[in-house]
Amino acid sequence: QSEYSLRPLKLTEYIGQEKVKDNLKVFIEAAKIRDEALDHVILHGPPGLGKTTLANIIAREMGGTLKITSGPAIERAGDLASILTTMNDNDVLFIDEIHRLSRTVEEILYPAMEDYSLDIVIGKGAQAKSIRLDLSHFTLIGATTRIGLLTSPLRDRFGVQLSMEYYTHEELEEIITRSASILDFEITKEAALCIARRSRGTPRIANRLLKRVRDFSQVKGESVIDEETALSALKSLDVDDEGFDRIDRKILDAIVHNFNGGPVGAETLSYFIGEELDTIVDVYEPYLLQKGFIVRTPRGRVATDRTYDHLGVKRRTDAQQTI
Ligand code: ADE
Repeated sequence: QSEYSLRPLKLTEYIGQEKVKDNLKVFIEAAKIRDEALDHVILHGPPGLGKTTLANIIAREMGGTLKITSGPAIERAGDLASILTTMNDNDVLFIDEIHRLSRTVEEILYPAMEDYSLDIVIGKGAQAKSIRLDLSHFTLIGATTRIGLLTSPLRDRFGVQLSMEYYTHEELEEIITRSASILDFEITKEAALCIARRSRGTPRIANRLLKRVRDFSQVKGESVIDEETALSALKSLDVDDEGFDRIDRKILDAIVHNFNGGPVGAETLSYFIGEELDTIVDVYEPYLLQKGFIVRTPRGRVATDRTYDHLGVKRRTDAQQTI
């Protein structure tokens, strides 16, 4: 079974993101009453929280087809033009990492979003002619991990702006239980909650851990996954009690041990631990920040008491630090 089969296909099957769902339900219903395409939607938030899943659900509820692409994949204006001209009314174009679109491609999007029209230039030099093509009434769904990197003309053209939040342990437990039932195996409530607590608020991580825990359980010849198996499997997978993996711990370790608790800049940190800056900033930092393991200051990232507690390290006093 692919990961795709675990994805809900209807808004009513989608667990969590209550605020996003409540709003979307109204906007979809209103668009249908008016017999119009849904206004363009920007989804922002950390990776793995279900942005693509939501785009797929929106396309289905609007009775259209979903086309998926990403900012870096659209290299030239012509690439985007050829996608846009094949869209039908109520189709959804999903552009992941939309903050990484080039400026020239972005400018093609403005009239497409605003007036469903495409301005193209035919010919060269003195013969060049600009013509305007009408497009179908489609919906653009943009996804970004960093809303701050969107230019304001692009951001302002999205009528619906939705923020995806980390899931609660209870929501993740529900997702895990649902996934186990789709994948056709049994898991106790305690084991599901145990995985949920270590999934960093992220369904994609929850489902991945669930599948790996199932591997351990099956090899042990068990028919039901219980808490003991879940815990020992997660330990083998290097996932700790906070759900931190090797990279989370490398980040925290470096701030505490190598930069004396901080402040340290993200770039220095990325260079020091040998991980991509974007991965640290988009994937790891948001969760560490939201859980209070690091705080951001103008001079860089600083470890908190929670970090020292978690690593089992005593904070050095100011007097010791000056030695
Ligand atoms: N699988 C992954 N994300 C989900 C969600 N938000 N609701 C239900 N199942 C999911």
